[in-house]
Amino acid sequence: MGIVVTGATGNVGRPLVRVLAAAGERVTATSRGISGDDTPDGVRHRRADLAEPDSLRPVFDGATALFLQDGGAGAHLVDPRQVVDVARSAGIERVVLLSSQGVATRPRSVSHGGTGRSFEEAVRQSGADWTILRPGGFGSNAYAWADSVRTRRTVAAPFADVGLPVIDPADIAEVAAAALRDGGHAGRVHELTGPALSTPRQRAEAIADALGEPVRFVEQTRDEAREQMLRFMPGPVVETTLAILGAPTPAEQRISPDVARILGREPRAFADWARRHVAAFR
Ligand SMILES: NC(=O)c1ccc[n+]([C@@H]2O[C@H](COP(=O)([O-])OP(=O)(O)OC[C@H]3O[C@@H](n4cnc5c(N)ncnc54)[C@H](OP(=O)(O)O)[C@@H]3O)[C@@H](O)[C@H]2O)c1
Repeated sequence: MGIVVTGATGNVGRPLVRVLAAAGERVTATSRGISGDDTPDGVRHRRADLAEPDSLRPVFDGATALFLQDGGAGAHLVDPRQVVDVARSAGIERVVLLSSQGVATRPRSVSHGGTGRSFEEAVRQSGADWTILRPGGFGSNAYAWADSVRTRRTVAAPFADVGLPVIDPADIAEVAAAALRDGGHAGRVHELTGPALSTPRQRAEAIADALGEPVRFVEQTRDEAREQMLRFMPGPVVETTLAILGAPTPAEQRISPDVARILGREPRAFADWARRHVAAFR
């Protein structure tokens, strides 16, 4: 069975490619940019753009399973039905979609209720065996703090003491690998969270612990945070993100049992992510 991983250079795609390759799967990794130096031996990387579905045709050659993600900030440029049609006509029989918890918890938002739901619907209607992964916020969003920690040993973030059960992208990757390799996940929606609530202040402390040096925490106002986020996210996505970070619903603070049920172990804590990625903050 050949498996195509989209977003293969991203926070989830990179560990997913490693897990699948280590399990002996034939993997095609794809993204718009070039692959990194750490692509495992035997994995082929092909450049393709989800916004241009025809560029995907050669990527699917000989594959039967697809890990699909929406292209992040450019998701609104992608027509998920076209992507799924190209995949199906090339022989893809199983699709695992990286969606978002926000599709359920923020149905009226443009990004989750609009774009996110359109990906889910395209996959459900594809005729393939489908599995949908709905993670909450990623621990790797802390990369946004890397520059200020490296240069000033400072984290600036809003809503310092509001907890969310952020998930380690490596756990999402392991769940995705299970769903791609094992037909028992067909027709299932998995909700993926970390093992406990953590606040931005606690996550900054975990980075300080990993560094072995103090890190100052500066609480931003909502407006300061909005201004900063608008530099790299579209406006509607910023508003939904601020709403989740500042006033999460009970569903967004719930610890899901799904990672432990599927992997047979507890999800990784944020401190674990911080230790494994401390080089980005040195
Ligand atoms: N971050 C969160 O808190 C969060 C929460 C829930 C769900 N999600 C979802 O998780 C996914 C990954 O998020 P992330 O922050 O981890 O992203 P990321 O690390 O930036 O990874 C995105 C990957 O997609 C590729 N990509 C982007 N646009 C593409 C396009 N048009 N065609 C083909 N490949 C494209 C990127 O490589 P190139 O740029 O080289 O193409 C990269 O490999 C997103 O789809 C997001 O909606 C994220």
